[in-house]
Amino acid sequence: AVERTLSIIKPDATKRNLTGKINAKFEDAGLRIVAQKRIQLTPAQAGKFYEVHAERPFYGELCDFMASEPVVVQVLEGEGAIAKNREVMGATNPADAAPGTIRAEFAESVGENSVHGSDAPETAAQEIAFFFSGLELVG
Ligand code: CMP
Repeated sequence: AVERTLSIIKPDATKRNLTGKINAKFEDAGLRIVAQKRIQLTPAQAGKFYEVHAERPFYGELCDFMASEPVVVQVLEGEGAIAKNREVMGATNPADAAPGTIRAEFAESVGENSVHGSDAPETAAQEIAFFFSGLELVG
């Protein structure tokens, strides 16, 4: 089925001018960028987005990192987009990411891992609604 997923190009990647290279990976894999904006999050907004991780030891560090530089939030659309995006991103820890994936090529560490992608249809819907209004989604 055609799905939509929420993607974030994280501060370590925007800082190194990697937005275009990362977007090329998505487009080459058949994912269409149907909405996109570059924004600066506050630590509180990052904390709200990652609320599910609030009890993890790395939560504070994660929120500060996500607010450290602008991020690019985007909606990717395509056949099986949620799984396809996760495949293109590679494993969370770049040390475990398959060759050719975004995290294998660009990520600096498990924390500064260049991209985020939704993990399931329910979270994709929630995460898209967190950043985009219906008017901003142009299929
Ligand atoms: P992401 O897919 O955005 O979802 C949660 C994020 O938490 C994850 O990518 C990593 O950037 C971060 N994360 C996960 N595990 C660790 C860890 N052990 N140390 C620091 N950050 C982590």
